[in-house]
Amino acid sequence: MRINKYLAEQGVASRRHADEMIEAGRIKINGVTALLGADVQEEDVVTLDDQPVLSGEKELEYYIMNKPKGVVCTVSDDRGRKTIMDLLPETSGRVFPVGRLDYGTEGLLILTNDGDLAFRLTHPKTEIPKTYMAKIEGTLTEKDLNPIRSGIELDGVLTKKCKAHIVETNKAYTKVHITITEGKNRQVRRMFEAIGKNVELLKRVSIGQLKLRGLDRGKVRKLTQEEISYLKGL
Ligand code: URA
Repeated sequence: MRINKYLAEQGVASRRHADEMIEAGRIKINGVTALLGADVQEEDVVTLDDQPVLSGEKELEYYIMNKPKGVVCTVSDDRGRKTIMDLLPETSGRVFPVGRLDYGTEGLLILTNDGDLAFRLTHPKTEIPKTYMAKIEGTLTEKDLNPIRSGIELDGVLTKKCKAHIVETNKAYTKVHITITEGKNRQVRRMFEAIGKNVELLKRVSIGQLKLRGLDRGKVRKLTQEEISYLKGL
């Protein structure tokens, strides 16, 4: 089995994050630093930061978090900032975030050790709609949103068509609901920057039909069986 798939199945990280760990030289197979694309056999000993990655049956865990801003969306932070791991209950196993929210972005985040589900949910082909509430500085009209709806060039590629509408507007700020099906780095913020607007506040309110449903900022709960089945069916 490919090393990244193995690490995902063991709940260490998503396949993509596992590749980053391999590239950083943190993974060893039988004491030798693993290379990207290496294969693992059943009898091999795999370590992460020299700690054995235990194989065997593990319980799959699924959480939903209302991430506050000012918290990093990684398993550890070399600058010592608060991470989403600090918000998890002590009883939780080793889970990792499905996709990322910026340091300054809040809202719905899924965490799991189910590598396959994480892989599918974050795969560009899956195109899951993610809705954000963006609070923009100053006034905005529906017409101003047209370039955002039809596609903004980011990193030389047009963003996919998306839905956006104004929820509230006044002289000081405008609240926009925007639904995108991609996950480019800082996508929503950069789309508004491209039309000369600054996002003051950004909150993810849903992933597909999954919503925060009254989960307070900074709080975490286990996903229900129904919610897990829904995500698996996406
Ligand atoms: N778009 C952004 O700009 N930031 C996020 O965290 C998510 C989407």
